[in-house]
Amino acid sequence: MKKINRRDFLKAASAAAAASVVAGCASSGENALVPSRKGQSVIGLVAPKMDVVRVGFIGVGQRGFGHVKRMSHIEGTEIVAICDTHEEVLARSANYLTTERGMPKSALYGNSEYAYRELLNRDDIDIVIISTPWKWHAPMAIDTMNSGKHAFVEVPLALTVDEMWQIVDTAERTQKNCMMMENVNYGRDELMVLNMVRQGVFGELLHGEAAYIHELRWQMKEIEHKTGSWRTHWHTKRDGNLYPTHGLGPVSQYMNINRGDRFDYLTSMSSPALGRAAYAQREFAADHQRNQLNYISGDMNTTLIKTVKGRSIMVQHDTTTPRPYSRHNLIQGTNGVFAGFPNRIALEQGGSKSFHEWDYDMQNWYQKYDHPLWLKMGEEAQRNGGHGGMDFLMFWRMIYCLRNGEPLDQDVYDGAAWSVISPLSAQSVANRSESITVPDFTRGAWKTATPLGIVSV
Ligand SMILES: NC(=O)c1ccc[n+]([C@@H]2O[C@H](COP(=O)([O-])OP(=O)(O)OC[C@H]3O[C@@H](n4cnc5c(N)ncnc54)[C@H](O)[C@@H]3O)[C@@H](O)[C@H]2O)c1
Repeated sequence: MKKINRRDFLKAASAAAAASVVAGCASSGENALVPSRKGQSVIGLVAPKMDVVRVGFIGVGQRGFGHVKRMSHIEGTEIVAICDTHEEVLARSANYLTTERGMPKSALYGNSEYAYRELLNRDDIDIVIISTPWKWHAPMAIDTMNSGKHAFVEVPLALTVDEMWQIVDTAERTQKNCMMMENVNYGRDELMVLNMVRQGVFGELLHGEAAYIHELRWQMKEIEHKTGSWRTHWHTKRDGNLYPTHGLGPVSQYMNINRGDRFDYLTSMSSPALGRAAYAQREFAADHQRNQLNYISGDMNTTLIKTVKGRSIMVQHDTTTPRPYSRHNLIQGTNGVFAGFPNRIALEQGGSKSFHEWDYDMQNWYQKYDHPLWLKMGEEAQRNGGHGGMDFLMFWRMIYCLRNGEPLDQDVYDGAAWSVISPLSAQSVANRSESITVPDFTRGAWKTATPLGIVSV
């Protein structure tokens, strides 16, 4: 307790001294600087109930097109306008809605990189779904909120500490939602584990493990359009965890991050970066642009986060090495552990086996602990697809909250805390794994914020 008070005191003192310093600074201490609040906290923000949610889309490439399809199946929504600079994908979404779904024509934008601002100028849109390359997330989210609309942004929320603060400040000033759409939090297993954690099955939580281990070298063959056309370049720009939120989102909700606990500091280490260059050499001609790039992002990055309550979280990132997919999804408590990929449980008390042995049979656990949201919507979610139903469930829940005047399950502070691990990991890697302070985007409100409940609808 003493330690927290001292830190809070130091933080307050440095924040006062530094007035509006934005915490995008180079050294670990400076990350702790908290700019003064320009609006009101948006923890638990409830937007006025919407009868029909009027939606605009920016970016309808690989991911955004899926979102358009999903949204078209959700009751109480209207797809008003769509923007994309790539004519082909813009037409694909427009045609899908009119031809396959028999819906009225949406307004279309996309003749320049800033055409999205024309969409934002409309006064008949309530929320905007942003599924563009990472560098656009922050400017588009900020412009969206400034135009009086709620922003829903793909992962990660933004790229730098400075951008995170700008987004948080804008949300607080405009009192608009800015949710980073972490779909994995709506997976059946993740929801079940959240339910089990809340019911105390694992005891007091101690440690979590999260990851994005997903071999994506093949995306390097996407040159003009699609994910690899822009994502490949991040492997030449940042040596750290490029994509932390899929694994970290669920573990953060298990641990009540920003709602009773928060990330305190991290340390990060990368392996050599060998796989992308080797792949380029093997798969492309010697003079191909993929062979001209300097791939610096370590193939495997491992980051350790310490929370204020003393818990530890390991987060890994590897989209390069040949190995099976994993998000780890591990949560360890005083009574036992759940681990994903493959799902397995070991408990001291209440398990079907000794804790020395893994129980791989999930059926009994699903029967006992499937999350209420999954029980209600899981079948429909699976029918509508998207990563086993999690994408649909997330959309369904977003719209449900907006139509029923309930706070969203993820707020701007969650998106910022989970995403900031990327720039901070790079900072640590660059400085011999130096310990880096994670900014408190809630500005102290994490201490009194209530944990996300078990959602029963
Ligand atoms: N949550 C998930 O499971 C998941 C899965 C895949 C991708 N994503 C995220 O979705 C986002 C998009 O990824 P993607 O795979 O669809 O990439 P993509 O390249 O296929 O799509 C991006 C689209 O944005 C458009 N665009 C670029 N700049 C624009 C601008 N200024 N104005 C309007 N449109 C613009 C492009 O033309 C393209 O159609 C990324 O942030 C990615 O991390 C999330």
